[in-house]
Amino acid sequence: MTVSFRNIFFFLILLIIILAGCETLTTSKPIIPIREYEKMIVGRLDAQYVGTHNCLFACHYHDKIKNNFEASTMGVQLTRKACLPLVNCESCHGPGSLAIEGITPEKVEQDAKEGKQTACNYGTFIDIKNIPPQAQSLICLKCHTANATFNLHNWNTGAHAVNDVSCIDCHNICKAFKKGSPDLTVRPRDTSEMCYKCHQEIMAEFSLPSRHPVPEKRIFCTDCHDPHGTTNDKLLRKTTVKELCSYCHAEKEGPFAFEHADLTEDCRTCHSPHGSVNNNLLLLREPLLCLQCHSGHLTSSSSTLEAKGAFYTRCTDCHSQIHGTDIPSASGRGRFTQ
Ligand code: HEC
Ligand code: HEC
Ligand code: HEC
Ligand code: HEC
Ligand code: HEC
Ligand code: HEC
Ligand code: HEC
Ligand code: HEC
Ligand code: HEC
Repeated sequence: MTVSFRNIFFFLILLIIILAGCETLTTSKPIIPIREYEKMIVGRLDAQYVGTHNCLFACHYHDKIKNNFEASTMGVQLTRKACLPLVNCESCHGPGSLAIEGITPEKVEQDAKEGKQTACNYGTFIDIKNIPPQAQSLICLKCHTANATFNLHNWNTGAHAVNDVSCIDCHNICKAFKKGSPDLTVRPRDTSEMCYKCHQEIMAEFSLPSRHPVPEKRIFCTDCHDPHGTTNDKLLRKTTVKELCSYCHAEKEGPFAFEHADLTEDCRTCHSPHGSVNNNLLLLREPLLCLQCHSGHLTSSSSTLEAKGAFYTRCTDCHSQIHGTDIPSASGRGRFTQ
């Protein structure tokens, strides 16, 4: 049996392709049982919890973080007299005794004299930035269980959790404190900037001439989407697109005596949700939009129609009730003309 050089060549190519496939299989994300994530967020077992006061009393480097933290809803739990001390630095960073070992006011003073900044042994804390996103989120989910924070019910199945986005990708816990903002929640008016960090293509859609007034801050991404996850497609807040749109555009909801077939069941038949080059967020301009499904026509009742073959450019000049109407047209049919 002779094997030609060409066959070997093709065999090699095939082998390379198969091996390349295996490579992506082995490097794809392993499925880790939740207890493995739990281990990652325990912190060093040989460290003790020492409390925020002990963490911070000698060295005032983190005072700003502390002040801002205490001013936040989460931090208030720590400081408010009537409340249990629910959240402190170690709730997220893990036990701190090893980190502050040997740090005394005297050492801090001495370091300062030598022009040095006293640093705690940060390596003994949980390595928050480098643990997998699921573990990062688990730090928060210890307390923010679905029962405590109701809108996190669908977190685990949401597109964000599934695609390795963690709580701290959106909630800049300590960075926000550093910037001097005690505001942990994302204010609605700041959400779009937050979302654009990762969804650049959506930013482009919202700079088109016709758009929902998100850049004008009259409505927000979170009016339509729940970033924490929903059981609906595209993280939408409502089960169907029609239900979502009708929440604000109730007059388009119907039912009408004369419906535009079942087209309005999905507003996306004609509209784009974010932005469009055409007015009224239309996917296509008129008359092209309508001519996808209809042919143009002439009417005797129209004075603009002297010349045979005159072409309408805006069908909705006459068919103005395009979403449906209860009033019949002149011929008693439903042609959305009034
Ligand atoms: C609710 C959880 C949480 C609490 C409470 C918390 N932190 Fe953090 N901290 C984080 C996370 C998450 C990061 C890493 C990501 C980041 O910088 O936003 C971090 C980062 C840090 C950093 C490094 C900042 C940097 O830019 O690298 C310091 C320092 C810090 N925290 C100090 C503190 C101190 C001091 C307290 C208590 C007053 C505290 N943290 C309370 C979650 C928390
Ligand atoms: C030790 C418990 C605990 C941990 C851990 C924790 N939180 Fe909280 N958090 C609370 C409590 C208590 C509140 C205040 C009550 C509430 O709003 O539910 C709160 C409030 C919040 C708020 C609302 C703040 C506001 O101004 O309304 C946000 C946002 C938040 N946490 C995010 C996080 C994130 C992100 C993490 C993980 C890095 C985290 N939390 C970890 C207990 C915790
Ligand atoms: C994709 C961005 C994003 C991610 C990821 C995210 N959040 Fe949020 N979160 C928001 C926004 C935006 C708000 C503002 C509230 C709103 O308008 O719905 C918010 C609000 C909150 C609040 C305020 C109280 C509330 O119920 O509205 C809490 C608490 C909270 N998030 C916790 C978490 C926790 C815990 C995680 C991780 C399990 C997480 N978030 C992941 C964007 C995010
Ligand atoms: C840290 C990056 C990051 C941030 C910030 C972020 N997202 Fe996402 N988002 C993703 C990734 C990754 C996916 C999954 C891949 C994809 O569909 O693009 C996703 C998917 C989505 C989807 C599509 C879901 C689907 O089923 O296809 C929506 C809607 C969405 N994000 C809305 C938001 C909104 C609203 C915000 C702001 C509150 C936001 N995202 C902030 C990373 C991010
Ligand atoms: C008026 C409601 C509304 C607003 C406001 C809105 N969206 Fe959407 N978004 C939708 C709908 C509806 C879809 C589903 C589109 C589809 O399936 O074709 C969607 C889809 C998406 C997707 C999935 C990708 C895609 O194009 O299908 C992302 C990501 C997204 N939106 C992000 C955002 C961000 C970020 C903001 C704020 C800057 C935002 N959306 C504001 C209604 C809205
Ligand atoms: C949270 C409320 C809200 C939701 C949900 C919503 N809209 Fe709007 N919509 C608005 C606002 C506000 C305007 C601006 C009205 C104005 O300028 O007077 C608008 C304007 C429009 C316009 C006119 C745009 C223009 O260029 O003049 C269209 C078309 C539209 N929406 C369609 C939709 C569709 C389709 C959906 C569902 C995907 C939807 N809307 C969901 C609030 C909403
Ligand atoms: C058959 C195509 C079509 C469908 C389906 C459709 N629209 Fe429209 N829509 C239009 C056209 C065309 C315009 C422009 C109307 C005009 O210029 O008189 C428009 C305009 C609008 C406007 C802005 C002008 C106004 O009347 O307030 C809103 C809001 C709107 N549509 C919402 C919706 C909603 C919500 C749905 C789903 C329930 C929907 N549309 C489904 C074709 C459609
Ligand atoms: C996706 C396809 C589609 C698009 C786009 C569409 N239509 Fe329709 N239209 C239909 C269907 C299907 C019917 C129901 C036909 C029937 O009952 O004979 C209908 C019915 C009508 C009727 C009533 C006809 C009758 O015989 O009673 C008018 C008028 C009409 N459409 C005008 C328009 C205009 C104007 C536009 C553009 C703004 C448009 N349509 C866009 C599919 C479409
Ligand atoms: C100058 C006003 C006017 C314009 C512009 C116009 N129409 Fe009409 N259209 C009418 C009238 C009037 C009727 C008949 C209404 C009746 O039966 O009472 C009609 C009927 C229709 C019918 C039902 C026809 C049938 O054979 O039963 C359709 C479909 C239709 N138009 C589509 C369109 C489309 C698509 C455009 C844009 C290319 C358009 N129209 C532009 C006035 C207009």
